[in-house]
Amino acid sequence: MTSPSSDEPNEGATGNGAAGRYYGRGIPYLPIEGYPGKLIAIEGTDGVGRTTQIQLLREWLEVRGYGVVETGWTRSPLMQPTIELAKSSNTLNKLTFVLLYATDFADRLEKEIIPALKAGFVVLTDRYIFTALARAGVRGVDRLWLRNLYGFGIAPHLVFYLSIDVKSLIGRVLQSRGMDFWESGMDLKHGDDIYDSFKTYQQKLLREYASMADEFHFRVVDARRPVDRIQDELRRQVGAFLEPSEKSAEATPAH
Ligand SMILES: Nc1ncnc2c1ncn2[C@@H]1O[C@H](COP(=O)(O)OP(=O)(O)O)[C@@H](O)[C@H]1O
Ligand SMILES: [Mg+2]
Repeated sequence: MTSPSSDEPNEGATGNGAAGRYYGRGIPYLPIEGYPGKLIAIEGTDGVGRTTQIQLLREWLEVRGYGVVETGWTRSPLMQPTIELAKSSNTLNKLTFVLLYATDFADRLEKEIIPALKAGFVVLTDRYIFTALARAGVRGVDRLWLRNLYGFGIAPHLVFYLSIDVKSLIGRVLQSRGMDFWESGMDLKHGDDIYDSFKTYQQKLLREYASMADEFHFRVVDARRPVDRIQDELRRQVGAFLEPSEKSAEATPAH
């Protein structure tokens, strides 16, 4: 597969996309130049602590006067019931899996994310296209094809990747909500044992995320630490980005 030459417009999602702009052709009828909002993605695998961190970050941003909008996978009102239905049958094909998720993202991008950015909100997204790329990648879907598919997306201003090893992840998940069918990759039929399947699948997913870290400029955050340490780091980096010249942007402790 050849990579596009430099004088051709790039059509797919790559790390070369300018922050805040469409990766590729974008949504052709929806120009997005010069909007005031910011798009911040919190990425990481299942159970790593994204929701916990986003909630704290949101509170902190709101206290500082920012309007915050949250979004996350399968939250499109149009697609949520369809995806739930498809998942509940446990017989989702790879291509339908990928396209249902892409449709969910397209719907939220057009109806939630872009309007919020144009209105000046900070959009916190719980996972972004990287989760879709990682999940499809471990299922053997062609990586270049996937990147081209997501060329309608916007390169976030910041991507935080909550990084963890599989052993720590297992401990965290067992202590909280347990292992579910999809988060364990049971559809990949690594075996009947959900624990073994979770371990194998999550190991592959973590490798897949790691392989994107440099390309897509992930700010890697060590998620094995206590909640407030992680939050302090996020606040420090988000503050420095949103208010680079203000000394007051220094983060206040999380608790
Ligand atoms: N840094 C952390 N250390 C220990 N436990 C954590 C940490 N962050 C989150 N948790 C716990 O792990 C579980 C999963 O966290 P959650 O934020 O729901 O993850 P995600 O949204 O990534 O699936 C919850 O029970 C949460 O309290
Ligand atoms: Mg969550």
